[in-house]
Amino acid sequence: MSTVWSDSVERGPDGALWVGGCDVRELAGEYGTPLYIVDQKDFRRRAAAFRDHFAAAFGRFHGKVDVYYAGKAFLSSQVARWMYDEDLCLDVASGGELELALRGGMPAKRIAMHGNNKSDQELRRALEVGVGRIVVDSLTEIAELELIARDMGVTAPVMVRVTTGVHAGGHEYIATSHEDQKFGLSLATGAALEALRLCHASEHLTLLGIHTHIGSQILSLEAFEQSAERMLGLRADFMKETGAEMPEVDLGGGYAIAYVNGATSLDPREAAHAISDAVAKVLKKLDSPWPRFSIEPGRAIAGPAGMTVYRVGVVKHVELEGGGQRQYVAVDGGMSDNMRTITYGADYTATIASRLSDAEPAQSRVVGKHCESGDIVVRDVQLPHDISRGDLLAVPATGAYGRSMANNYNAVLRPPVVSVCNGRSRLLMRRDTLDDLLSWDVAPG
Ligand code: LLP
Repeated sequence: MSTVWSDSVERGPDGALWVGGCDVRELAGEYGTPLYIVDQKDFRRRAAAFRDHFAAAFGRFHGKVDVYYAGKAFLSSQVARWMYDEDLCLDVASGGELELALRGGMPAKRIAMHGNNKSDQELRRALEVGVGRIVVDSLTEIAELELIARDMGVTAPVMVRVTTGVHAGGHEYIATSHEDQKFGLSLATGAALEALRLCHASEHLTLLGIHTHIGSQILSLEAFEQSAERMLGLRADFMKETGAEMPEVDLGGGYAIAYVNGATSLDPREAAHAISDAVAKVLKKLDSPWPRFSIEPGRAIAGPAGMTVYRVGVVKHVELEGGGQRQYVAVDGGMSDNMRTITYGADYTATIASRLSDAEPAQSRVVGKHCESGDIVVRDVQLPHDISRGDLLAVPATGAYGRSMANNYNAVLRPPVVSVCNGRSRLLMRRDTLDDLLSWDVAPG
């Protein structure tokens, strides 16, 4: 099938969708719907591709790169284990993600702790378990972390998150390196340099280097190159001023994927070559020593490996103002399991998973079961006219920021995540139960 589907997706002899050697109808029968399905081999292959392409491209200059999988895209302890087995590191953005990573056996030294507003408790826990790096995001955090580290009698390994001013990314809400947003310390205003000086001068902090993440769903290689160039310029200035060593530079994630047929994705091999060429050129010009680089892809590893399978319920035909009709296909999930459409106006596609149909295609919209009209899963898609109650519908490329952003709106139960591989399925996360829901509620009494 086309590139929006994971590697192992195919149609079986009677036209039903298969993934990882499993019939989607059987998975839906066993685990219920909605259901997130993760193609384990595809997920791991993409992680390994980042590892190998970046190692090879940077290796041309004897440079080293660590790949930190960005767990916010989707994290469970088994996924953390896959990443460890693939020799990756892990980026966590909260105390909760940190615990999942540790439960999966990811060594603390290979974990980077992120967050623009980490709590004291999160900072303490990160130091207690001995994470490899804490990416500090503000002057307030530097002061606080210093106090905590002193109190605990440890030194905290830190990187300073830098706002480079490079504006990139798919949607305003996921661009993170222009000035007017909440992340990082500005290169332009000198805040980043001030933060570096503070970290360098502190007895309780060990300055490892600098970090940036310019945004998500980025297709422009120039944006990555420009950001790397600015980072290395800052590093060179700081090293010159202080004589300090800055052994590490993290260039963040943001590699775009295709959500709909015909859309482009950023090829990790091409990205690795372009970025390594750019940094090699800049380091030579600056006459700077090579740092150890790292990157943080999330979506590009988890996204295409996942799909969501829904059961179709009500199908309605609505007259459009300018003439014509739209087929509204309501499924048993919606904005509780996929927040991306309503949040970013994200595009998706869909297909009937339980059978093939040769009925005429109709202009369709896949909607959920929530009580608002913005509850849209797929805004525009051609689906056969004979789609009806009971059909299974699959939406590809939901592996990243699907389950991880899921919620219990309208007191619905969040779907399970199941991984498939070689004809076998295995739960990564179970479905919420009514008992879960009632246990969060405090009854009158
Ligand atoms: N590193 C840092 C510091 C990040 O903040 C992020 C994403 C990543 C890496 C991974 O970015 P990726 O490679 O997955 O694009 N909920 C939004 C995306 C928000 C991303 C937040 N940070 C979405 O569904 O598009």
